[in-house]
Amino acid sequence: MGAGLVASYGTLAWFASRFLYPKRDEEGAWLFVCTVNRLEPGSSLLFKIPGGETIAVARNGRGADAGDFVALSSTCPHLGCQVHWEANKDRFFCPCHNGAFDRGGKAIAGPPAQAGTDLKQYRLRVDGSLLYINVPSELLAKAEPNGKPAREARGELHGRIVERVAVRGPGHDPCLAPRNPETSREC
Ligand code: FES
Repeated sequence: MGAGLVASYGTLAWFASRFLYPKRDEEGAWLFVCTVNRLEPGSSLLFKIPGGETIAVARNGRGADAGDFVALSSTCPHLGCQVHWEANKDRFFCPCHNGAFDRGGKAIAGPPAQAGTDLKQYRLRVDGSLLYINVPSELLAKAEPNGKPAREARGELHGRIVERVAVRGPGHDPCLAPRNPETSREC
């Protein structure tokens, strides 16, 4: 029984350490997103990384490898509305002006396609049953304006799953915002 307890606590400690102390390499940090089973095939979630950027993480395959998932910025490069994954159409869709992106983030319809502006893609990694996302160094620097790695050392460098994103400021679609005759423009 003692050996069983030691093994159980060992496994628990291993999971905790992987979550609390994200791996960092020269290209950024690997942050824990969720367990692989948390995302059913065809579903997606929103993940907010340190620094505030939100990322749509979708499971577009039936397997459990990194290639069965995709992570793209959820902020449309046109006017900053939030895109969402449409599994039945195999695309990310922006409802503001019918912008659409393929699973690699390439703009395929609407204003983003006309402007040739794609969604930024993030690297993913599956480690056992855990899904991790790579957050590039330049975004981490935003989260740590003094350039100090203190938050990471304290195990506080985490993202979190969010229900929805409050859109405000200049990125918000002016066609959906309250009209201001001084500043509004044609939609
Ligand atoms: S198409 Fe996305 S904000 Fe216009």
